[in-house]
Amino acid sequence: MTNLDRCYNIFDLREAAQRRLPRGIFEYVDKGTEDGISLEENRAAFQRIKLRTCFLNDWSKRDLGTEIFGSRINLPFGIAPTGSAGLMWYQGEIELARAAADAGIPLTLAMGALTSLEEITQAVPDSRKWFQLYPWEDQEGNYEMVARARDLGWEALVVTIDHAPGRGREHNERNGFSFPFTPNMTAALDMAMHPGWMWRVLRKYLVNEGMPTNANYPARYRHSIIDGKKRVRPKRFEAMTWEHVRKLRDFWPRKLIVKSILSGDQARAAVDAGADGIVVSNHGGRAFDSAVATIDILPEVVEAVGSRSTVMLDSGIRRGSDILKALALGARMVLVGRATLYGTACGGQAGATRAIRILADEMERAFGYVGVRRVSEIGPHIFAQREPRMAGCAQTAQILGISEAIGGSA
Ligand code: LAC
Repeated sequence: MTNLDRCYNIFDLREAAQRRLPRGIFEYVDKGTEDGISLEENRAAFQRIKLRTCFLNDWSKRDLGTEIFGSRINLPFGIAPTGSAGLMWYQGEIELARAAADAGIPLTLAMGALTSLEEITQAVPDSRKWFQLYPWEDQEGNYEMVARARDLGWEALVVTIDHAPGRGREHNERNGFSFPFTPNMTAALDMAMHPGWMWRVLRKYLVNEGMPTNANYPARYRHSIIDGKKRVRPKRFEAMTWEHVRKLRDFWPRKLIVKSILSGDQARAAVDAGADGIVVSNHGGRAFDSAVATIDILPEVVEAVGSRSTVMLDSGIRRGSDILKALALGARMVLVGRATLYGTACGGQAGATRAIRILADEMERAFGYVGVRRVSEIGPHIFAQREPRMAGCAQTAQILGISEAIGGSA
């Protein structure tokens, strides 16, 4: 196991993860799409925003927790849906779920995960669990999975809506990675060059439960390279509209969250379709390479639906101060994906816990610098700039000629 005490920040965990994982798997997690512009922009946008320090207001009584959907979480962040924790570590999704449960934060299980809803429920029965869905054209398949999450009592359904056009991930074409694994020379060589991962992760699956596959998919879509079945790929739901979100709303009895929102209009449409919450997300720079950074568009979304919806944000969170910035612009919490995946790759549950702890400690320090003791005290007063939203959007605003409308000078 990586010496976690020597990983001082999320970037250290990333580097350690890179050393441990086959290249194809690491790049699948780490990279963005096309030229990686939206991936970089997510970071750059957070870095552009500067905060105002404020000392000497009795910081000793502090609390990093907050309330989401009426009940408390210990930290204002949760785990984003990512389908690959199970490739980071043997049974990595269970390890990650345990880390989230111990930290008192929600976990989102991706529908593409290697671990079933039932196994996660058994591993962490009392924690807050959300299930993410990429709707397929096969409605029956969608509802079959959603019904399982419903019957297991999961708290929220997260519907990702950016899937129809597919992805431009050239790196995965080049490095031979695909999931479920498909046999090819590049991937085979890559794995052969990472015997540690083969031994610690793949071997354990093969010995205990067989070749990893998408554990939540209905049986007709569940495949692995060794089961000999003809591969049937579920089709992306190209014809999807808000009408289908409304149908899911009618079916799902608890909280409905729509993810992949990057404009006020789409946020309104989601809330009108019955969403209780939305996630401002560009999929961590993994979907559309010309997407705006989430922190830059957050004010527009909060203005549109902040009063009638729980607005969350993901994409690009690597430091505790990023979380503070998102909360100050109106997000109620954020989701982290890569940070805890890197952690999981370095040490399973202990590694994921390390990532959560790093973000929590950095955030706590940032609270101290800007002089807030609890989440409810965070607001735009912490920004050094008069109009923080303009830090990222000034150019866009100029191009669109809307600088007046969105708040004055740059
Ligand atoms: C991805 C999809 C599976 O980003 O969410 O890889």
